[in-house]
Formats: sequence, structure tokens, C-alpha cells
Amino acid sequence: MFCTSFAWAAFNFVAAVAAAPAPFTAPFVGGGVYQASDPRLKDYAVASTPPFSPSVYGDYYVWRVDNNTVGVSNATAVEAPLGLTNYGSDNTVYPYFEIEKPCDKPVDFSSEYEGKGTFKKILHILFENEVFSWTMSSPYWRVLATRGKLLTNSHGVSHPSLPNYAAFIAGDTFGMAAENFFNVKGSTIYDLLDHKGIDYATYAEWYTPSNTSRGPCDCNQSPFMGPLDGSNPDWSSPVYRRLDVPALLFSSYTTNYTRCSKIYNATDKFAQDVNDGSLPPYSFYVPDMLHNGHDPASDSDYLHQNDEAGRWLLSFLDLYLPALQEQGTLVVASFDEATWTNDSDAVPNNNNSIVTMLFGSGVTPNTMDDTYITHYGALIGAINNFGLGSLSRNDTNVTNGDLTNLVW
Ligand SMILES: *[C@@H]1O[C@H](CO)[C@@H](O)[C@H](O)[C@H]1NC(C)=O
Ligand SMILES: *[C@@H]1O[C@H](CO)[C@@H](O)[C@H](O)[C@H]1NC(C)=O
Ligand SMILES: *[C@@H]1O[C@H](CO)[C@@H](O)[C@H](O)[C@H]1NC(C)=O
Ligand SMILES: *[C@@H]1O[C@H](CO)[C@@H](O)[C@H](O)[C@H]1NC(C)=O
Ligand SMILES: *[C@@H]1O[C@H](CO)[C@@H](O)[C@H](O)[C@H]1NC(C)=O
Ligand SMILES: *[C@@H]1O[C@H](CO)[C@@H](O)[C@H](O)[C@H]1NC(C)=O
Ligand SMILES: *[C@@H]1O[C@H](CO)[C@@H](O)[C@H](O)[C@H]1NC(C)=O
Ligand SMILES: *[C@@H]1O[C@H](CO)[C@@H](O)[C@H](O)[C@H]1NC(C)=O
Ligand SMILES: *[C@@H]1O[C@H](CO)[C@@H](O)[C@H](O)[C@H]1NC(C)=O
Repeated sequence: MFCTSFAWAAFNFVAAVAAAPAPFTAPFVGGGVYQASDPRLKDYAVASTPPFSPSVYGDYYVWRVDNNTVGVSNATAVEAPLGLTNYGSDNTVYPYFEIEKPCDKPVDFSSEYEGKGTFKKILHILFENEVFSWTMSSPYWRVLATRGKLLTNSHGVSHPSLPNYAAFIAGDTFGMAAENFFNVKGSTIYDLLDHKGIDYATYAEWYTPSNTSRGPCDCNQSPFMGPLDGSNPDWSSPVYRRLDVPALLFSSYTTNYTRCSKIYNATDKFAQDVNDGSLPPYSFYVPDMLHNGHDPASDSDYLHQNDEAGRWLLSFLDLYLPALQEQGTLVVASFDEATWTNDSDAVPNNNNSIVTMLFGSGVTPNTMDDTYITHYGALIGAINNFGLGSLSRNDTNVTNGDLTNLVW
């Protein structure tokens, strides 16, 4: 864009943020992305929050909005086996926000080096919203800790949830401070992996790929899918959320059909890939809202909120850990952010002490490590393990830690 090495360039960023966002055309319609003029949307209400407040997050980001192109939360398509009623008023459209970092440094593809090769594969499993001490008050998470290595000084990088999911694969939150139909036009670890020919996958519970003009396994950008979950007394929503799937938050990913075809319905594909040894070297497993700690317990029932997630992860490990370990897989179970009663989403990082547990290859069960690490340190671990180069963002900041140093 207008990024140059001139000192006065910073002045331009301020101006760009302060000005009304420039109109633009969203790159793709299909797979949960609609023209706002689509007659099927006549009964839909618009909901949107601009991506960030420059006064809080700095002037290093720009955004544009295409109000003519929208993501759709289609409650009429949602099944309600839990006895809940679907109301037309639940239907919402979200304008397409595109976010960019004007002074993003170029990606460094100098990946000729081999990498440390500490693990053959890495599998991330992401959980929701709980501060370290409350998670570890759950008997289920204490049992889980005996099966792996508990990282006691691990930190989320932001609030609310969404920017943390972006940080895992891109080394930045891109100034996002809300949860909306955000599409980041920026590089991710998938660019580095593609450059080196290393395969990857995302397995998301309740995700259904879209059949579009590009092909039968296209990205599905619907903000919500699956049955309505009213188990949490504080709110109800469908069990699947787009914001929990890191790859879908990046238009650099979703505009590429080949990449889209690597996001799967977990129930359809995960067990099979683990059992036949074809899980790719870099993967995410995205549990649904009943498995990721968000529900069913109330947000204010801190001491029990993660029990269900703990029970789920215990059975997940019973089913898959032996095979994953034999295939050289490091399993990283991590919360996205630590939410307090007094939490403020306007504070970029109010300590954010979360549970991260490592299982499988290179992990001695029933151990702990108090090394400081953030989500960026998880990204750094994958980059150093596979020898991927660099995104030239927070993945170059060694203070964030390095997963490869925490396993043997
Ligand atoms: C687009 O939508 C946003 C959010 O609803 C609104 O603030 C903005 O004024 C709209 N822009 C135009 C040009 O309609
Ligand atoms: C919402 O889902 C219903 C039921 O599956 C379907 O008939 C309708 O076309 C969907 N609306 C949109 C905008 O996709
Ligand atoms: C995808 O859509 C095309 C065109 O509508 C149709 O012919 C094809 O059978 C569909 N494929 C799947 C797998 O549903
Ligand atoms: C699209 O993705 C494929 C692999 O998934 C990659 O090889 C290719 O370079 C990507 N294309 C672009 C334009 O990024
Ligand atoms: C996911 O795959 C399973 C197994 O093939 C299937 O039963 C289920 O309907 C699929 N779920 C979605 C949401 O597509
Ligand atoms: C929130 O409250 C907890 C416990 O009462 C306290 O330890 C913590 O420092 C508070 N955090 C913020 C950001 O005020
Ligand atoms: C951050 O949280 C950790 C773990 O809960 C705690 O030990 C530490 O004192 C906290 N730091 C601050 C500055 O609140
Ligand atoms: C590092 O991430 C923070 C958000 O956690 C962001 O504000 C900052 O710009 C990033 N730094 C770099 C060099 O990308
Ligand atoms: C490096 O990371 C640490 C820990 O996350 C952070 O406090 C520090 O500000 C970062 N430094 C730079 C230059 O981004």
C-alpha cells in the first residue's frame, strides 16, 4: 500500500485509520458468503462491530468493509435437537470486513535449513476462555496433567477470543478487538508450509464444507453451524463457530480453493487419518462449544466450567494418543484466553494466564514446566521444528518462547 521506508509513513497510517474505511469488493461470494441483495436475505437483520479501536490498538492496521457482501448466520438451517426453537429473528448478516497491516514486513521464505525436527507432527487442540487456576481446579484437568506436561506460565495474547485464534497461525492479532466477520489479508504459517511442501489440515466438529462453483470441498464461511446449544444458562448459540477455526479468519487462505479443501468435518475424517497414519504434519482439531470448555456450565460457575471439556479430552486421548504418539505427534492442548469476571476486552493482554498441556511425542507424563510462553511461542515452535523461515511478526520475538524447547 502506501508503506515505504520514509519516516513520515507513520503519519499516513494514522490518517488511513481515522478516515472512513475505503470501499472495496470482497474477493469471493459462495460458501456462506452472500451478496447482501440476495432475495433470500430479506428477513435478515444486520449486525456488525468495526474491527478495532485505534485509540486502544494503535494505528498499524487498516480495514475496509464491503456492506454488499455478507456472512450469514442462518438459524433456520440449524437443527434444534436440544428442544430449542429457531426464530427467524436469530438470522443475522455480518458485513465483510477486510483487515490489513500496511507495514507488514515481507515473509521470509529462507527455509532451506532442515529445522530441528523435534517432532514429526504437531496437533493443536484449542479450548475456550478459562484462567489457569480455575481450569486446574477441575479434577478432570488434574488427571489430564498426569498424562502430559503442564505449562504453568503460558499466556494468551489478547481479548476477546477471535484475535487469539489468528495469533496462533499468523503471529499477530491484526488489531482485532471484537468477534465479527473479519477477513485478514495477510500471510500465515500456511504460506510457509506450502512453500516448503509440508501438508496441513483442520478438523472442525460440525463443519460442513461448501459445494460451490470452485468445487465440492470449498470453504464454508458461515459464522455458525450445527445444532443450537442452549446448555449454558447465560446464552445460546449453535455449537460450531467460524471464529474458532484459525484458517477461516484469513482471506489469504479462503480465496485459495486448494487450501479450503484441507478443512474437514472432524467426525468424517479425523479418526480415519489418525488410524491410517495420514494425519498431516501440521493440524488443528477444533472441538465444538460443548467440548471446548465454553459450555455447558455457566460462565460464572468458574470452578466447573471446564469439567465437560476435561472429560471430553480424556476420552479423546484414550482414543487417539497411542497412535498419535507412535506417529511422532506432539499434541498441544491450549486455551485461547483467560477470562475473568472483571475482564475487559479493551485491555489487550490483562495477564491472560492459561492452561497449556503437551502430550505425546517428546513429552514425559506428569511433569510441569514454568517457562514463559505465549501463542506466538507455539507458532515459533512449529516454524523452528519444520525449518519454515519467518512471517516477520511476533514469531521473530524469542521472548514468546519456543515449543521445541519444552519437549525432548
Ligand atoms: C457499512 O456498514 C457499517 C457497519 O454496519 C456501517 O457502519 C457503515 O456506515 C456502512 N457503510 C456504508 C457505506 O454503508
Ligand atoms: C437458510 O436455511 C434454510 C433451511 O436450510 C434454507 O432454505 C435457506 O435457503 C437458507 N438461507 C440462506 C440465506 O442460505
Ligand atoms: C456440487 O454441486 C454440483 C452443481 O450444483 C452438483 O452437480 C454436484 O453433484 C454437487 N456435488 C456434491 C458432492 O454435492
Ligand atoms: C494455494 O494453495 C496451494 C496449496 O494448498 C499452494 O500450493 C498455492 O501456492 C496457493 N496459491 C496461492 C496463490 O497462494
Ligand atoms: C460429519 O461427518 C459425519 C460422518 O460422516 C456425518 O454423520 C455428519 O453428518 C457430518 N456432519 C456435518 C455437520 O456435516
Ligand atoms: C480481576 O480479578 C482478579 C481476582 O479478583 C484479580 O486477581 C485480577 O488482578 C483482576 N484483573 C484485572 C484485569 O483487574
Ligand atoms: C498472572 O497470572 C499468574 C498465574 O495465575 C500469576 O502467578 C501472576 O502473578 C499473574 N501476574 C500478574 C501481573 O497479575
Ligand atoms: C505482535 O502482536 C501484537 C498483538 O499481540 C501486535 O500489537 C504487534 O504489532 C505484533 N508485533 C509484530 C512485530 O508483529
Ligand atoms: C516480545 O514479546 C514479549 C512477550 O510477549 C513482549 O512483552 C514484548 O513487547 C515483545 N517485544 C517486541 C519488540 O514486540
